[in-house]
Amino acid sequence: MRVGYYQFRPLFGQPGRNVAKVLAALADTTADLIVLPELAFSGYHFRDREEALALAEDPASSETVESLTALCLKRDLYLVTGFCERSGERVYNSALLIGPRGVEHVYRKLHLFADEKRCFDPGDVPLSVQEVRGARIGIMVCFDWAFPEVARVLAIQGAEVLCHPSNLVLGYCQEAMRTRCLENRVYAITANRFGSDKRPHGELRFTGKSQVVAPGGRLIHRAPSQREQLYVTEIDLAEARNKRITPWNDLLSDRRPEWYTRYDQAFGALC
Ligand code: ACM
Repeated sequence: MRVGYYQFRPLFGQPGRNVAKVLAALADTTADLIVLPELAFSGYHFRDREEALALAEDPASSETVESLTALCLKRDLYLVTGFCERSGERVYNSALLIGPRGVEHVYRKLHLFADEKRCFDPGDVPLSVQEVRGARIGIMVCFDWAFPEVARVLAIQGAEVLCHPSNLVLGYCQEAMRTRCLENRVYAITANRFGSDKRPHGELRFTGKSQVVAPGGRLIHRAPSQREQLYVTEIDLAEARNKRITPWNDLLSDRRPEWYTRYDQAFGALC
C-alpha cells in the first residue's frame, strides 16, 4: 500500500486557493492514501465561532469536497483531510475520508485544543475504523495525540494505519506519535501544516515536520519544519497486524481490562 502526506501552508479564509493548491500538488500522484493537514481549506486561527461558521461547509453540498472527489476519481486515490464542517448551526473541526465515490466517513475532533473550545462544538462521533483498499484506517485530529486512549481504542478496533491531520503549535506531538506506534504497533501518518495564520487578534505559527511512523515507533520519514512537501512511501500492513513485542508479549491480547475497571469507575474514564 502506498501512503503519504502533503504538507503545505493553507491561506486563512481562502478555501478556493487552498483547494487549487492541493489539486495542483496531487495532480500526478500515484498513491492509495494521502493525508492532508487539519482545517486544510479554511485556515485555523479563527477570531470566534461566527468566523468559523462562516468558513465552514456542509460536506454534502461542498465545492471543496466535489473537487477533491474528482481528484480521487481521476487519480484512483483516497484522501483523509481536515475540514471545517458545518452541520446546521453546529461547527466541527472534522476530518473527512474521501474516495472516488465521495465522502466515506466524517470524524469530528474529540479533544479541542485551547481557543478551539470557543470556536467549535466538541466532536460527537464515536471512534471507528474504516476500510481503504483492504487496510483498516483510524482517524484522529491533531490534539487527539495527547489522549493515548484515542490511538488505543482505534488499535483495539483493528486500525492498522492512524491518519492524523494536524495544525501543531506545540513541540511534543511528533515524538509522542512514535510512542503511540510503539505501544499499539500501528503506522501513523501525521500531516501537519507550516507557516502561520497572522490575524488581527494574533499570530499562530505551525511546526511542520509531518511524518510517517512504522509499528514499533520507527520513523520512516519526517518533513522539514517550514517547507512544502509531498511524501509517499510503501508500507507493509503485515507489520501492523503482528502485535508481538517479544515472543511472549502481544500488545493487545496481553491487556487486562478486567483489572482496569475499578480505575474506570473512580475516574469515569473508558479504558
Ligand atoms: C491542535 O490541536 N491543532 C494543536
